[in-house]
Amino acid sequence: MENIKKLIAQNFSKAAIQYEQEAILQKMCAERLAQIIKNYQAIIVPGAGAEIGCGTGFLTKQLLTLFPSKPMDITDLSVQMVEQCKSNYCHSNLSFSVQDGENYPQKAYAFIASNLAFQWFSRFKESFSKLQDSLKREGILFFSTLVEGSFAEWKNICQAYHLPYTANPLPKVEDLESIYPEGVFEIQTYSLFYPSALHFFRHLQNIGASTSVGKQLAPLTLKQLIKAWNHESPSEITVSYRVVFGVIKV
Ligand SMILES: C[S@@+](CC[C@H](N)C(=O)[O-])C[C@H]1O[C@@H](n2cnc3c(N)ncnc32)[C@H](O)[C@@H]1O
Repeated sequence: MENIKKLIAQNFSKAAIQYEQEAILQKMCAERLAQIIKNYQAIIVPGAGAEIGCGTGFLTKQLLTLFPSKPMDITDLSVQMVEQCKSNYCHSNLSFSVQDGENYPQKAYAFIASNLAFQWFSRFKESFSKLQDSLKREGILFFSTLVEGSFAEWKNICQAYHLPYTANPLPKVEDLESIYPEGVFEIQTYSLFYPSALHFFRHLQNIGASTSVGKQLAPLTLKQLIKAWNHESPSEITVSYRVVFGVIKV
């Protein structure tokens, strides 16, 4: 496995125990994605389903409710996340395994579902377009992912104070639309509030999402960024998360 993937998996593994207390956005998006999947429930073809990047199981829980008798492969890059999900939602129809969603088995699934994991793909465009090969004829891919435009407030502070903006690159909505022109896409922006900039960066760490895939901020620059952000927003800081929900029928 590439080093960066090992690091991503390790950081999510470290967070597996406390993840659920802090992953508010992930829970909200799992619930919205489940509502969307419900609209297609009646036209899912026979055969197994799969989940990519299950984490501790916010979406797994919803999938179990929607498809109580369907076999499903529940997968994640992180060993500890898979273990945590298994202990939360052990069920005879579910099989749990560590899998990289970018090298997914050509298993012809009836559906693949994924909540807020694709933004961690290293080769987003290639891997996303390859996922259709893992689906059966008339299979469906349901997903949510963070997209470019998230963290606008962080970027603005960096620009205003001439500090480097080091958030990880995110997929672009236009790329998703051009890979699957027939796809159905819904874009939502969620605003979350934190007592201070430090709380926001701690939050990323606590949910395992603090791995930098590119440039890392030097500790002194991070201090400057936190100070500047707190100065601009003294009572609390707002962070916007731009999320695309997608349905791709093949
Ligand atoms: C933000 S969490 C979301 C977890 C869960 N879907 C939820 O809604 O709570 C992202 C998850 O994607 C997993 N992940 C990251 N890169 C992955 C990859 N290449 N293949 C599969 N899972 C991956 C991480 O280990 C982590 O559990």
